[in-house]
Amino acid sequence: MVVGAQWGDEGKAKIVDWLASRADVVARYQGGANAGHTVRHGDTTYKFHLIPSGILYPHTTCVIGSGTVIDPERLLEEIAGLRAKGIEPAGRLKVSNRAHLTLPWHRDADAKSEQGAAKPIGTTKRGIGPTYADKIARLGVRTADLLEPDASLRQRLVGLAAHYNLAEAELDPMLAWCREQGQQLAPYLTDTVSLLHEARKAGKRILFEGAQGTGLDVDFGTYPYVTSSNATAGGACTGTGMGPGQVGRVIGVMKAYTTRVGEGPFPTELLDDTGKRLAEVGHEIGTTTGRARRCGWFDAAAARWAVMVNGLDGIALTKLDVLDAFDEINVAVAYRHRETGEQYTVPPAQLSVMEACEPVYETFTGWNTPTTACRQFSDLPEQAQHYLQAISRLLQVPIDVLSIGPGREETLVLQDPFGEALASGASTEGITPSLLAST
Ligand code: IMP
Repeated sequence: MVVGAQWGDEGKAKIVDWLASRADVVARYQGGANAGHTVRHGDTTYKFHLIPSGILYPHTTCVIGSGTVIDPERLLEEIAGLRAKGIEPAGRLKVSNRAHLTLPWHRDADAKSEQGAAKPIGTTKRGIGPTYADKIARLGVRTADLLEPDASLRQRLVGLAAHYNLAEAELDPMLAWCREQGQQLAPYLTDTVSLLHEARKAGKRILFEGAQGTGLDVDFGTYPYVTSSNATAGGACTGTGMGPGQVGRVIGVMKAYTTRVGEGPFPTELLDDTGKRLAEVGHEIGTTTGRARRCGWFDAAAARWAVMVNGLDGIALTKLDVLDAFDEINVAVAYRHRETGEQYTVPPAQLSVMEACEPVYETFTGWNTPTTACRQFSDLPEQAQHYLQAISRLLQVPIDVLSIGPGREETLVLQDPFGEALASGASTEGITPSLLAST
């Protein structure tokens, strides 16, 4: 399983793409069209929102699980976009018949609540929050409902229309919209729970792909500045129907620094030239909304929390190369309350406390050397090795994978997440907490 261990945009797409090339099934389990993944294959760039990027591999079955929320217009647009680039999703794309639908009413409600809010969340305005809220309130419309007779589908819409205070006249056009979308989606809808269990029994390799990140998780993130789903590892069970014991290694993807899109606390945020440099060198612009990402130093307190709430077995650390030209690099090892002086090693629950916290930094000497051409851990400049070992020591989790550039070859595998022997001869001793414990 691959999860985001920060506030989203950790570079999951590259790690997922690399693992998907060796997976039989790739399954999304939460979120919706708020997610944005960019993958480059050859000369072609693909942007994904709902469909797992594994669809680019002809042998891979892609599942959009019951825990996701599906805007049919966006999904059909994505399918058409892939077809235009010569990739046929039919037959390999399987959409849960239990997933909830984002209707245009949800998108409107999202936009309205953001506009009307004294303190907006900074959502992607994709209707995510209202769709999940209606799911929990038992008012939602599921993909399977699109296949129901008119009378019963209408009944679902009547409940929803009453909730949004919509006029009676809105019902028939929405029913027609649902019918139209349903007809086009029907070939993709299936019981993905049975599909996944059968795949597992047949010994197939399943990759669970989390969207967003731990800091945006509705239970463990910086509430209320979160998305409305469980982006953490537990979400994969509730969002696909697999049991917790059926999931293998959990890999948390983290950038070598931190970014965040939208509002909400971000203790290591840099509002100065250093932050601007991170944004420029790291090309930190949102895939879904095109918004500039806020940038800051690596936050080990937030990452430590991510290790716990996801049960991380390994880390994929991305974009180390973005730090190649800094004289000094900071890592927040804890937070300190500006007034009380109290220290926190993980994010505090109270928003006012979190907002009043400043980072306690450990400062590392930069390496001022390009790392992108390095092909194994020992090729990295000494200070970069030291930085990575410090992260592993602070989090007490090994770094399995290190990304030092956008290209596939710019990925150092220190421990294969699928447990395969490493052909490259790379050593598993590269970056582990135990190594650091002795220094
Ligand atoms: P929503 O998911 O559109 O409701 O947005 C809630 C918060 O999650 C906002 O701060 C968004 O910027 C953030 N968010 C949602 N999806 C992503 C993502 O894929 N990457 C990064 N941030 C996201």
